[in-house]
Amino acid sequence: AAPGLIDPFGRQITYLRVSVTDRCDLRCTYCLPKGFKGFEEPANWLRHDEMARLVGLFVELGISKVRLTGGEPLLRRGLADLTGRLSALPGLRDLSLSSNGTQLAQHAAALKQAGVRRLNISLDSLDPACFARITGRDCLASVLDGLMAAKAVGLTPIKLNMVVQPEVNQHEVEHLLTFALAQGFVLRLIEPMPMGDTGRATTTLNLSRLGAELARQHGLMPLLDAQDSGPARYWTTGDNRACFGVITPMSQHFCERCNRVRLGVDGTLYLCLGQEDQVPLGRWLREGASDDELVARIRAAIARKPERHDFQQQPGKIIRFMSQTGG
Ligand code: GTP
Ligand code: 5AD
Ligand code: SF4
Repeated sequence: AAPGLIDPFGRQITYLRVSVTDRCDLRCTYCLPKGFKGFEEPANWLRHDEMARLVGLFVELGISKVRLTGGEPLLRRGLADLTGRLSALPGLRDLSLSSNGTQLAQHAAALKQAGVRRLNISLDSLDPACFARITGRDCLASVLDGLMAAKAVGLTPIKLNMVVQPEVNQHEVEHLLTFALAQGFVLRLIEPMPMGDTGRATTTLNLSRLGAELARQHGLMPLLDAQDSGPARYWTTGDNRACFGVITPMSQHFCERCNRVRLGVDGTLYLCLGQEDQVPLGRWLREGASDDELVARIRAAIARKPERHDFQQQPGKIIRFMSQTGG
C-alpha cells in the first residue's frame, strides 16, 4: 500500500475532523459573538456525496478516525445519511461526533443505527441559569435528556467537554466531576483557546495543576498508556478506563503528538487549529479535479502542516471562529 500521511515533523496523520455545518443553535461566550449570523453560504457547503468522496480519499491515505463536528452537527439535515456512507468506508475504525446535545434526544437512536460509535458532548454547567449565561439559551434540560438518550442507546464512552472559565463556571468543576463519575461519563476540563473575536474575552487558567489536584482528592491515578488520547491527559479509578481528563492547549500544549487535520463545511482543509494555513480542496473538487489530483493536493498540503499553534505568543492571531472548524 502507498505510505500514509506523514508531516514534516514525522507525525502520522490518522485523524480527520469534519465540520458538517458552521451553524449552531447556541452562542457560547468562548465560541461565537452574541447574535452572530455571518455563516457560510449553503451553496458552498459540500453535499453528502462530495464529503463522502473527500473523506474516502483521506481514509485511503491512512485516516482511521473521523469525527464530525460543526457548528452543531445535528443541525445538518440528513446527517444520518452521511454517517451511514462514512461508516461503510473500509479502513475507518472510529466514527464519532462532537455535539452540544440540544437535539440529541431525537437523533441518538438513528445515529447509533447509522454507524456512529461514540459521542463527545459540551456541558459547561449543571446549573440552568449558569448554563444559559454561557450558551445564550435556557436549554440545559434538553441537553441532559440528550445525554441520557445517548447513553441508553450505547453511544459510549461519552465524554463531557467542560470549557472552564474562572468566575463563570469554575466553581462547578467538582459538581460536574461527581455527576460524571456517577453516570459513567468521562469529564474533560478544557482551557479556553483564543479563536476569533467573540467580543466576550475569556481569561485563561492553568488546568494542568487543577486536574492533578482534583484527581488526587478523588483517589484517581494517571492513565499512562492512553492510546489515541489525542489532546487529553486522563486519570482512572484503577481499572484502566479513563474517567477524567484535562485538555490544556494553553498551559501545556500537545502539538508534538498531533495526529489531525480538519475539513470545513466547504471542503477547506485546515492544517492546524491554531494556524490559518489552509487549502481549498472543496473548490478543486467542484472544478472537476480527479481523485489522483486530489490525493496529490492532500499530500502536498500535509507536507506543509505547521509545527504547532502559538495561542500564547499571538492570542489575537486566529480570526476565524471555533464554529468554523468545530474545535
Ligand atoms: P477524542 O477523539 O475523543 O479524543 O476527541 P477530541 O478530544 O480530539 O475532540 P473534541 O471535539 O471533543 O474536542 C475537545 C477539545 O479539544 C476541544 O476544546 C477542541 O477544541 C480541542 N482540540 C481538539 N483537537 C485539537 C487540536 O488539534 N489542537 C488544539 N489546540 N485543540 C484541539
Ligand atoms: N476553546 C476551547 N474549547 C472550545 N470549544 C469551543 N470553543 C472553544 C474554545 N474557544 C470546545 C467545546 C466543544 C468542543 C468541540 O470544542 O467544548 O465541546
Ligand atoms: Fe495539532 Fe495544531 Fe492542534 Fe497543535 S494546535 S495539536 S499542531 S492541530
